[in-house]
Amino acid sequence: MEINKIAVIGAGNMGHQIALSAAISGFQVTCTDTNADILNKAIQFADSYLTERVNKGKLTSEVASQAREHLSFVPTVEQAVAEADLVIEAIIEKLAVKRKLFAQVNKLCPAHTILATNSSYIVSSKIADATTRPDKVCNMHFFNPALVMKLVEVVKGPHVSDETVDSVMNVAKKMGKTPVLLHKEIYGFLVNRLLQATRQEALKLLDMGVASFEDIDTAAMNGLGYPMGPFQLLDLTGVDLAYHVGMEKYRESGDPADRPSPTVVEKFTKGEWGKKVGRGFYDYE
Ligand code: 3HC
Repeated sequence: MEINKIAVIGAGNMGHQIALSAAISGFQVTCTDTNADILNKAIQFADSYLTERVNKGKLTSEVASQAREHLSFVPTVEQAVAEADLVIEAIIEKLAVKRKLFAQVNKLCPAHTILATNSSYIVSSKIADATTRPDKVCNMHFFNPALVMKLVEVVKGPHVSDETVDSVMNVAKKMGKTPVLLHKEIYGFLVNRLLQATRQEALKLLDMGVASFEDIDTAAMNGLGYPMGPFQLLDLTGVDLAYHVGMEKYRESGDPADRPSPTVVEKFTKGEWGKKVGRGFYDYE
């Protein structure tokens, strides 16, 4: 199936960049968020990003103005999904909230529409049965910052049709991304499983007082060639996300080892959620 119209639900850290990336690639995009402030920030970001790209010579003014015309920010899910061929959900990492949204979207969008989740960890089979179209519900996982990062993980759960997978892989390619296909559902997919191993160890080293977070970042960048250290990356992806993911996993497994680390809990409680709020491990003010 050819996809022309994409709806992105959630205009936060990931959603606003997924929407903009799709609009720059020629898709008609509608983006929504329940939080008016977040939606306004997304609009401002789109305007300033496109202007900056043109000034930097990275986009022609024609492509930038077409992208802006193709991208509309709307206040309700109803408006966002009414004509969508593909819906990409990028809301909070809470299973119950996602299931409720998918059930709602299922009723509001056309029968042919594919419903994808950008969840970092939750496999789509945990959501698909909240809809009447499980064969069209899959994971399409982007990376932060989504305008820059090339990878998209597409996951073929047992309920997902080949047509759905083909369509989503094609959308990712048309967005200039490099999709990889997972033939099995697995918690955390590929990248977050690798990332989690590094992150857990970095937090453990910090909690043990072995080195400062700055020096652990320096070690990862200069000793392993990582573009960012694990704490810089935590600030970029959001301490709140790490907290919610850990809590979700702990709720499911009951294993205390799955709980977010004490440092993550402390940062979360203090509201030091990373770059988006101006302070995380580092100060961005
Ligand atoms: N939004 C949009 N564009 C951005 C950006 C942002 N937040 N940050 C940087 N860029 C762009 C710049 O505009 C620049 O573009 P250009 O070269 O075309 O002009 C380019 O990226 C390079 O930027 P800088 O020179 O300012 O900075 P760096 O070279 O240090 O690159 C980075 C920044 C791309 C963020 C790089 O540090 C990086 O790759 N970091 C690792 C990011 C990563 O690992 N992401 C995955 C996280 S895991 C995840 O998302 C999974 C989820 O489920 C949690």
